[in-house]
Amino acid sequence: MKKGLFITFEGADGCGKTTQLKLLAQYLENQGRDIVITREPGGKGLGEKVREILLNYDGPVSDRCESFLFLADRAQNIDIIVNPAVAEGKIVLCDRHIDSTVAYQGYGRGLDIERIKMLNSIATNGRKPDLTIVFDVDLETSQKRVGDNKDRMESAGCEFHNRVRFGYLDIAKEEPERIKVVNAAQSIEAVFDDVKKIIEKYL
Ligand code: TMP
Repeated sequence: MKKGLFITFEGADGCGKTTQLKLLAQYLENQGRDIVITREPGGKGLGEKVREILLNYDGPVSDRCESFLFLADRAQNIDIIVNPAVAEGKIVLCDRHIDSTVAYQGYGRGLDIERIKMLNSIATNGRKPDLTIVFDVDLETSQKRVGDNKDRMESAGCEFHNRVRFGYLDIAKEEPERIKVVNAAQSIEAVFDDVKKIIEKYL
């Protein structure tokens, strides 16, 4: 049996990570690998219900409540989708994971970063991704890609999203072995070439 892998895709809203995740899934499937795609918030079942609240609830939401909802969804995703698939030798591609909470609720909302990391490790039972790719793009480009139809998180404002972007770059510096940064302002093809180069070392 091939070794399972857990790969996460991270970056600010509008960075293009979901497009790259789909391209990579297709590329790896063509090589005969068994792929599982999941996302946070979301995944399936209960996770999708939590996603609906997090992105569309239009009343006041406390920053800590928001964090705990993302963390609850994470625990569900890890236990129900990620861990069983990796144990079966599959490659799990996950759209957002632990680094999103550090970047958005820590750097973005201003909650204590060390506490978020601790809560992350409770939500995941200590598991970390084998590889994380951060898609880095300037705010102007990412905002253009997001467009005018914004959800609750996307509507948080330019300063918030700038803190998120630079937060990701800080996080990547702390764990250079796990986290690789790609310049996502390039064309889709050029970004995907970079992704393939990174992935080859893990297959
Ligand atoms: P998506 O649209 O890229 O799937 O992401 C959903 C939104 O949720 C996005 O704006 C980032 C945000 N988010 C957080 O704020 N914290 C988290 O822990 C996660 C997973 C996502």
